[in-house]
Amino acid sequence: MKARFWLVAVVAILAQPLQADQPGRAAIASAHYLATEAGHEILAKGGNAFDAAVAVSSVLAVVEQTSSGIGGGAFWMLRRAADGFEVMIDGREMAPAAADRDMYLNEDGSVNRDLALNGPLAAGIPGEVAGLDHLAANYGKLPLSESLKPAIRIAREGFPAYKKFISMLQYKEADMRRWPAAAKAFLPDGKIPELGDLVKQPDLAAVLEKVAAEGRDGFYTGEIARRLVDGVQAAGGIWSMEDLAGYTVKEREPVRTTYRGYELVTAPPPSSGGIAIAEMLNILAPYHIAELSKVQRSHLVIEAMRRAFRDRALYLGDPDFYPVPQARLTDVNYAAGLRAGIMFDKATPSNMLPGRENLPEGTHTTHFSIIDAEGNMVSATLTVNTIFGSKFMVPGTGFVLNNEMDDFSAKPGAPNAYGLIGFTANEIQPFKRPLSSMTPTLMLGQGKMAAIGTPGGSRIITMVLLGILDFVAGNGPESWVSLPRYHHQYLPDKVYAEKAAFSAADIAALEAMGHTIEVRKEPWGNMQGVMWDRKTGELTAASDPRSGAGRAIVK
Ligand code: GLY
Repeated sequence: MKARFWLVAVVAILAQPLQADQPGRAAIASAHYLATEAGHEILAKGGNAFDAAVAVSSVLAVVEQTSSGIGGGAFWMLRRAADGFEVMIDGREMAPAAADRDMYLNEDGSVNRDLALNGPLAAGIPGEVAGLDHLAANYGKLPLSESLKPAIRIAREGFPAYKKFISMLQYKEADMRRWPAAAKAFLPDGKIPELGDLVKQPDLAAVLEKVAAEGRDGFYTGEIARRLVDGVQAAGGIWSMEDLAGYTVKEREPVRTTYRGYELVTAPPPSSGGIAIAEMLNILAPYHIAELSKVQRSHLVIEAMRRAFRDRALYLGDPDFYPVPQARLTDVNYAAGLRAGIMFDKATPSNMLPGRENLPEGTHTTHFSIIDAEGNMVSATLTVNTIFGSKFMVPGTGFVLNNEMDDFSAKPGAPNAYGLIGFTANEIQPFKRPLSSMTPTLMLGQGKMAAIGTPGGSRIITMVLLGILDFVAGNGPESWVSLPRYHHQYLPDKVYAEKAAFSAADIAALEAMGHTIEVRKEPWGNMQGVMWDRKTGELTAASDPRSGAGRAIVK
């Protein structure tokens, strides 16, 4: 009997595929090949995934100022292999002390969209440098000065102008010319660089060198802080030395949810992404979506998106200022109530959902994902908000300031640059962080560990949702990053779709259910994913084929 027990136990153990303890190699996917290579360079010097994250973030701040930079902010989702500790580092921008709820309203009560998006008044206090300093000091193995070396080198020696960088400059050239320092930095000799021209940024290199030497103090106090405050104020902005010195990084407990046996570790407020992801997955969980037709499945996913974005508008904001009902919104019973209102064959018009009165709608932000040889993981989304942020640059600094203040709700129900609306939860208050859609996410289960994320404004959340569903369906990074995308955000009440998302017959069927489908000419997103399959030992990475500049390297 005893022998039989042992035989059964041994057979059971052997039947389990062996799981590796460590990947033994590292995978990095980012939006620019120089950033991916810099991450591997720092790993080769003995750094871990968190040091590599400092290197990748800072190189992106040099080669991709269209999307993120030290004038902006970021969320870094971390997983430490040694003890499974997971945390989100919140380096999100913060409203300055002199910010005011109505600061973007014209006399007639309308929103001054130019002030909210362009120039120094649009900029929140940047968090990226404080976040990098925090990452290096608390999680890295190398000093900040070492991990910043690739960024400093590339800022000094230059990077070759690439297609996307040039097209973004063409798109924003007129705005850029309003701010002479930005025009000088990006339009040398008054012209947009040609493909392959070296873009050198000596002012930015000098600021990064100061940060390398002095850590966060080199940016938030002293000479650079003085220059930033004077430059912002001279151009009509409201930053003070106290605002910069008082900026703090926050360690946030991730939103955790499960879906069909997988665990998702995702972005908590002040991101709206994690709560929305949990809510959508909870709504979808009881449906056997893999067995449904594509049209039926898409209908249910769209209805889940609609409901999560309604709640985003009503309930989400900086949790340090507004009592976000996170426990309720992420509860399966709450999702059951929402699911009960979904008709199987009919769209729910957004204005039929309980909410507020309906009111009137790129290539910005960036993401990278890392798994190192020990299994440490980083999923990070970084931003200056819209393309080149506020386009405003303080002379002598070399970096554009963000326009993240537009992620607040400037007026109840008035849409921001992404067509997103908000109310009290996300109104402007001094020291508050604007609600974000950035959703850096870790996906764990069935022996797989993966990191996923993307830029794309409000569409970040729905892209990550589609990526999660694809991961759960058994597919890898190559598939998540290339999937055709669709998106619904409650208001405007329509489904945006990439060309490849639906056939003409699919569109006809969805429209017959009451959905309005708008097929967009331009694709969206720039997803970067990595995955380690502990059962097969396979380590894979993929960079979104839509961008052309990204790179995924496993070595
Ligand atoms: N600025 C884009 C976001 O944080 O959602």
